[in-house]
Amino acid sequence: MRGDEESAGWIQPLVGRSRECAALAGGLAKARSGRARCVVVRGPSGMGKSRLLSGVRRHELARGCTVLRARCSEVDSPSGFDAVRMLFEPLKLGADDVADPAVPVLFPALSPAIRPAADYAVLSGLHSLAADLMSSAPLVLVVDDAHRCDGGSLRWLDFLLRRADDLPLLVVLGYRCDALEGAARAAMSGIVAQRATTVIELGPLNWTDVGAVVAEVFPEGLDGRFVDACARASGGNPALLNRLLDDLVRAGVRPDSDGVAAVEEVGREVLAASVLSRLAGQPERVGRVAAAMALLGPAAGAESVAALAGVTRWQVAEALGVLRRCDVVAASGTDFAHDTVRSAVLDALPMSEADRLRAARILNDAGRPAVEVADHLLSHDRA
Ligand SMILES: Nc1ncnc2c1ncn2[C@@H]1O[C@H](COP(=O)(O)OP(=O)(O)OP(=O)(O)O)[C@@H](O)[C@H]1O
Ligand SMILES: [Mg+2]
Repeated sequence: MRGDEESAGWIQPLVGRSRECAALAGGLAKARSGRARCVVVRGPSGMGKSRLLSGVRRHELARGCTVLRARCSEVDSPSGFDAVRMLFEPLKLGADDVADPAVPVLFPALSPAIRPAADYAVLSGLHSLAADLMSSAPLVLVVDDAHRCDGGSLRWLDFLLRRADDLPLLVVLGYRCDALEGAARAAMSGIVAQRATTVIELGPLNWTDVGAVVAEVFPEGLDGRFVDACARASGGNPALLNRLLDDLVRAGVRPDSDGVAAVEEVGREVLAASVLSRLAGQPERVGRVAAAMALLGPAAGAESVAALAGVTRWQVAEALGVLRRCDVVAASGTDFAHDTVRSAVLDALPMSEADRLRAARILNDAGRPAVEVADHLLSHDRA
């Protein structure tokens, strides 16, 4: 709870997350005592990774440390060390600060004549640079949105941690599990596997924490059933919860038992918007597979889903992987994470009347009982 974080040195008020804050504070304490640590905070979009990471710099144990931060973006430069550059940028390094000849390649201001350097030389030059910094104060490197981090920077963080056992270093990485791909995925698994690394899987806020957030917005006349409804509609995801509360305030809803129905209605819209944003940037066929699954229901096989979505079975399997990583489909299964998510998919990606008829035919051809065929289609009509 809020009081715990404040007493543990978290100046920025946070709701819940005492275990996670303690792990980060532990990492800071270890680094200060000269033992390198890495704390990885990962979880779905909106779960509060950035909020947690932003507190590290303000923690009382970070006082006197060199804290460098980077937030990764989609855009990669050809040198492939964008995050490293962002981290070191505030130091405004001068030629005297960088002894290693390979490093100026990354910081053109230091070297007008940019020369190509072998990858290893750059990694080791940057390592010397970081070691120099650590000779005067513990070093804390915070990289947010690391799922977008360039491969070079992640390789360097891995390289640094492997050589930093006895150095005052804390590396904090935040990333969306659903969005980690390619080179970043491989480099990240190297970091995660290191002995010095602690992984925090950031889950939903619990009921009490949801209640605390709701009470901030609705300090008076708050009904327990209203909190229940907010917890259900948001799934404990702080970003969804904030959006839901904003919309409820805008709609003039009161936090009493009458407001419960409004939470359910507004919650559906918020969830539908969130499903769309989670699927944004994914191939269009992933949305088609999700919509087909939602319409056909949990008993339909991959064959039926493929037929309705107009994709191959292999593409259904691939889409399921994406939907699991986006928390649309349950992590260990082939059905939606929750019934509200199924409805949200249908709201967000509505199927046409022709699709509904095709769905009925497909279920019929697959030998599903006629009652079930009719039931599915009618229930979605009512939704
Ligand atoms: N523990 C918390 N207490 C209070 N507010 C929180 C908490 N965690 C997150 N929030 C708020 O919820 C919203 C989403 O949090 P945040 O931006 O940190 O999520 P994220 O995991 O970084 O999302 P993304 O993956 O999209 O970057 C923010 O407005 C943040 O201030
Ligand atoms: Mg974030």
